[in-house]
Amino acid sequence: MEVMRIFMVALVLALHGTETLSSVDHGPLAVDYYKESCPLVEDIVRRSVQTAVFKDPRMAASLLRLHFHDCFVMGCDGSVLLDSEGSIVSEKGAGPNVNSLRGFEVIDEIKYLLEEACPYTVSCADILAIAARDAVVLGGGPGWDVSLGRRDSMKASFSGANQLIPAPNSSLETLVANFQQHGLDVSDLVALSGSHTIGKARCLSFRQRAHDVSTQDHDPYKRYTSFRRILRSICPKSGKDNKSAPLDFTTPARFDNHYYLNILQGEGLLGSDDVLVTQDHGGEIKAQVWAYASNQHLFFAGFAKSMVKMGNINVLTGNDGEIRRNCRFLNS
Ligand code: HEM
Ligand SMILES: *[C@@H]1O[C@H](CO)[C@@H](O)[C@H](O)[C@H]1NC(C)=O
Ligand SMILES: *[C@@H]1O[C@H](CO)[C@@H](O)[C@H](O)[C@H]1NC(C)=O
Repeated sequence: MEVMRIFMVALVLALHGTETLSSVDHGPLAVDYYKESCPLVEDIVRRSVQTAVFKDPRMAASLLRLHFHDCFVMGCDGSVLLDSEGSIVSEKGAGPNVNSLRGFEVIDEIKYLLEEACPYTVSCADILAIAARDAVVLGGGPGWDVSLGRRDSMKASFSGANQLIPAPNSSLETLVANFQQHGLDVSDLVALSGSHTIGKARCLSFRQRAHDVSTQDHDPYKRYTSFRRILRSICPKSGKDNKSAPLDFTTPARFDNHYYLNILQGEGLLGSDDVLVTQDHGGEIKAQVWAYASNQHLFFAGFAKSMVKMGNINVLTGNDGEIRRNCRFLNS
């Protein structure tokens, strides 16, 4: 029965995958928003991202994650980029971000070039959205049209960054509820988790998974044994918080569907990766993981669609917010 249901869900997903991206809902934003006011915006961002990733391949992952951490705290409004000043308490110091988020200098550089080309025009929130897409493309992943017209927030939320970004030791139930809170469904959770096909995590983020024996003891196949031994050697019980490991051990710098193959083999780095296949959600999640593991095109289509959806979370438009001149500070 279980197998049959997984098969049926996989089939439905496969059929959905043929849907074209033009049917994606872009919300209040528009793909050609800067067509008159800053026609070169996408070229400028793309070239800067290319240069940055050429110098440091991990930067592709870091830029993708910046957009995610922006969108999950008050919406995609550039709040993550603000430094502490005056009444602003920067999100950069919050638990999920401190000693971890990277790429701020790349965004500064892009903003500098855009202020030269078209001053007061392009928001920092839009830069994050375009850079995330370009980073995925550079890694070998799918492209998509980025809807634009976001404005930048006048505030940051330190407490929001601590509470709204999911922790790597979350249960599946907690992850599903967290995504739901942001208007994202179970299928978005599975697709967007595929981001962990690139980039790295620090020991601090996977120590609990490496050492927690309870799940290992309950795994009848003992699939975790050798993988966990490696994790424990990288990340002993104490110290070495900053030592990092690739999120995708098989193709660490390539944006592909190997993430799903890894987690099916018990080799997801984070607890939050592992729970997608070890904790139950009526077979629905596992079916999507199998579908993505066996069909990269399906993953790419689902990922692009979910990225557009994530990029629409609580965007500021019209007269809300402002277009920051410097992504780190409010205009006045
Ligand atoms: C499902 C819930 C998620 C959890 C619990 C989670 C957690 C984490 C953690 C703990 C790290 C490593 C941080 C460190 O140790 O420094 C990480 C890295 C990363 N995450 Fe996630 N993440 C999630 C979803 C996402 C989503 C939705 C995206 C993008 C759309 C994303 C993109 C990334 C990328 C690209 C990296 C590597 C960054 C780098 O190498 O600089 N993650 N994530
Ligand atoms: C980790 O690295 C950051 C700088 O990136 C540093 O401030 C922090 O003290 C380091 N933590 C440990 C435990 O080494
Ligand atoms: C997750 O990790 C945090 C910080 O290390 C810890 O305080 C918390 O108890 C852990 N939660 C679970 C469910 O293990």
